[in-house]
Amino acid sequence: MAFNPAVVCLLAACISASLAVSSKISEKYPPLWEESPGQVSDYKVKNGKYIINIWNYSERLGMYKILLNQTAKYFEKFAPENEQNLLWGLPVHHGWQYHTGRLADPTQRTSCGKESGDRLCLSVDSWWADVNYFLSIIPFLAVGEAGIIGISPDDVIFLPPPKDQKNFCYNTSSCHSSFPEAMKKWNEFYQHVKSPSSSFDDLLKYVWAAHFSSLKIAGKNFQSRSKYYSKPEAEFQRNWALFVDYLAPPRFPTTLVRMNEFQKGLPPRILVSRDKGPIIKDLTGFQNVVLLLLNFLHKVHKYTGTLSFVAWKTLMKLKVARKLFLEIMEYILQLLI
Ligand SMILES: *[C@@H]1O[C@H](CO)[C@@H](O)[C@H](O)[C@H]1NC(C)=O
Ligand SMILES: *[C@@H]1O[C@H](CO)[C@@H](O)[C@H](O)[C@H]1NC(C)=O
Ligand SMILES: *[C@@H]1O[C@H](CO)[C@@H](O)[C@H](O)[C@H]1NC(C)=O
Repeated sequence: MAFNPAVVCLLAACISASLAVSSKISEKYPPLWEESPGQVSDYKVKNGKYIINIWNYSERLGMYKILLNQTAKYFEKFAPENEQNLLWGLPVHHGWQYHTGRLADPTQRTSCGKESGDRLCLSVDSWWADVNYFLSIIPFLAVGEAGIIGISPDDVIFLPPPKDQKNFCYNTSSCHSSFPEAMKKWNEFYQHVKSPSSSFDDLLKYVWAAHFSSLKIAGKNFQSRSKYYSKPEAEFQRNWALFVDYLAPPRFPTTLVRMNEFQKGLPPRILVSRDKGPIIKDLTGFQNVVLLLLNFLHKVHKYTGTLSFVAWKTLMKLKVARKLFLEIMEYILQLLI
């Protein structure tokens, strides 16, 4: 296909102008953000402890709201309205999981998470809800340990899921002993957040290292969930987890606006067995391209025996390579959104 470069430029300019116009910050918040708990005292109290039902979307989202609120002062220097807070990646992605139905019970045995049932329920059988668990409890406990939020994490009780309780941890000491690496990496991130000398690029490096360590736990413990999903959805999960590994070395900026743009490329519903590709009709061009790219990445990764990842990591140690990659990605995003 031949594109007139001038037309492409014009198109890109129009798209970026329209993005700038429609950039009201609160429109980019995840679903139910405003209504969810925003401080620890918004949760129920029992015997002097706060009780968080981390298997309820609104309550889990509230933990992110507290995280974002309490770390806002450290990100003020980068942009107003907390827009450049790197922790946005977590709730924005969780919001996508919620509104695409990915947190509901995939076994269909309960109404957990279903539109017609208990919509806010996060199913312990949902691969997405399980993976996200380690991207919510660990960042939350670690922020408490870093002294950034005014309460001790030991004043909070996290309710266990209805089954498979052994797969999770519920307090600072048990998370440290079961998942020491992830707790350590999130602690390191917050230490750098607190340090006035940290640059934005430094913080990106540490947030991705922490993110990566949380995903490693999930990658090991929840493969058994894939049997509840159609083949295309299970492959998407596998490819997505791999892709996120590849996003870490170039330090993709997990800020509010970027995450929102990027997420438009992810499938807006659970994939079913008839979604064979290469083109899925009710998905946008951007979403189809993303699925194809993820599939391609998985093939490359597999055939090179992970050598591609090592090479990628090495290349992305160079600042100039990271910058180039992010610019290309930005360009593609603007064309496709
Ligand atoms: C989920 O949490 C919200 C906010 O605390 C609460 O209003 C709602 O009743 C809870 N739902 C369930 C099923 O626990
Ligand atoms: C943090 O939360 C408090 C209480 O809800 C609110 O008054 C304050 O404006 C919030 N700060 C930011 C930066 O969002
Ligand atoms: C932390 O959790 C572990 C395992 O769930 C439990 O045995 C322990 O008593 C808890 N510790 C505190 C301080 O609540």
